[in-house]
Amino acid sequence: MQFTLHHQATILPDALVVPIAQQADLDAIFSLLAAKTNVPADLIKSDFKAGPKEAHTLYFTENQQSKRIFLLGLGENPRSIDVLNAFRSFVFKRKSNLPANLGVSFLHQNAPAEPAVWVEATVNGLLLGLYDIGLYKTTKKEEEKAADSEIEIFVTEQHLEAAAVALQSGIAFAATHTEIFNLVNAPANKKTPQVLAEWAEKSGQKHGYEVKIFNEKEIHALGLHALISVNRGSENPPAFIVLEYKPKGNRPLKKIGLVGKGVTFDTGGLSIKPSTNMHYMKSDMGGAAAVMGTIEMAAKLQLPLHVIGVIPATENSVDAMSTKPGDVIGSYQGKTIEVIDTDAEGRLILADGLTYAVRNFEPDVLIDLATLTGSCIRTLGTYAGGLFSNNDDLVGQLISASEKTGERLWRLPLWDDYKKELKSDVADLKNFSGNPSAGAITAAKFLEEFIEKHPAWAHMDIAGVAVSDSEFSSQKSATGFGIRLLIEYLTSLVAESRA
Ligand code: BES
Ligand code: MN
Ligand code: ZN
Repeated sequence: MQFTLHHQATILPDALVVPIAQQADLDAIFSLLAAKTNVPADLIKSDFKAGPKEAHTLYFTENQQSKRIFLLGLGENPRSIDVLNAFRSFVFKRKSNLPANLGVSFLHQNAPAEPAVWVEATVNGLLLGLYDIGLYKTTKKEEEKAADSEIEIFVTEQHLEAAAVALQSGIAFAATHTEIFNLVNAPANKKTPQVLAEWAEKSGQKHGYEVKIFNEKEIHALGLHALISVNRGSENPPAFIVLEYKPKGNRPLKKIGLVGKGVTFDTGGLSIKPSTNMHYMKSDMGGAAAVMGTIEMAAKLQLPLHVIGVIPATENSVDAMSTKPGDVIGSYQGKTIEVIDTDAEGRLILADGLTYAVRNFEPDVLIDLATLTGSCIRTLGTYAGGLFSNNDDLVGQLISASEKTGERLWRLPLWDDYKKELKSDVADLKNFSGNPSAGAITAAKFLEEFIEKHPAWAHMDIAGVAVSDSEFSSQKSATGFGIRLLIEYLTSLVAESRA
């Protein structure tokens, strides 16, 4: 796709998409469309309700040329993810016969006050509509044509400048999302910890940030004992990946530490999982993917922040060497852990990642993302990630970013009452209480033991949202959850420090 921006509709393309939010009174828009197309306004009104992803086509001729207008519904009060998904769906359904020249108009009065946000999400969505999940198919469909479409975006003159910036970031987001989708959707045999490490190295070289990979030997030397214990049953060595983006020139406004769970496949270990749906455990590195995507985007956008990503990466597999239930292991922090359940492996590797991030970087803010618990899915379903934090201001900022992008977060408590569930008879603490209730909370309480009392920590349990059912694939597939959200949060920090 090629994109151009215009500030007036001098040339009307053969096909024009008009994105429309659902609101009480769409009559003014419908009358305009009626005047243009000769279709009575009341017919348009009865056939198009502007619901999410709803598309309706109008035909007319102008100067003896056939023209099409696609009305594209965005639903009520659309957040950027709703705009993105409407356009993604639009292209996805039509990718074999997308018009060679397609306009998107933000000129009508129902367009938002700040169309730049929509332009960014629109471009991101149009490009992701072309996303091809069939990475390993030996025969490709004839769908590449859509990739050649020319997209003309119309905004009013006063918004031209902001829209030009938004257009570029939409392209940047789509490229990063595509990479991250490919990683999260990849099967475990194509996605060892080494593959994640190589992805980070390549991305760092391409976008100008530092990447340090610690190999197995170095992981032992560092004393990442919890990561080592999870890796024991795996034929593939672990990797400890540290990504560090620093702005050029000026002193960064803040230092943000991000930690992502990088389990490239979770069998459960000796506390093995049932086989139904076990294949989805290839995506147990969704937290790592969100962190890697965020750092890549921070570098592309040249944010004036120092952003550090820490990814402990390993499989959780079964072998004679595997850690056994009841084993007592060490940690980078120094505490000993009784491993009651080897399937509670995410918190073990995150424990080492969190302590490492705090001790080695002293970030102002510490955030981890992990597909951590089935309990979080039972609590919030697939509609929101669980948010845990010891800092109310940070919660406010993250929730506000999440409301803007539409990647929902819901705060759950971290009361100390839950801590006693983690008391062990033989070690400093255990990794699972044996009690399945409030599992997402006790997991968060476990992590809290390893943050060295950091005053601004947030944990996001994204087990229910990192992959989802959608029209884009027959099985659950990657959503990229967290990247737009964290970039929105980081951008808001920049605006705040400059205000
Ligand atoms: N990776 C899983 C959590 C998960 C489950 C993510 C389903 C996505 C979909 C995690 O490692 C896990 O196995 N958690 C256990 C913890 C329990 C043994 C304390 C769980 O939630 O059942
Ligand atoms: Mn597990
Ligand atoms: Zn897991």
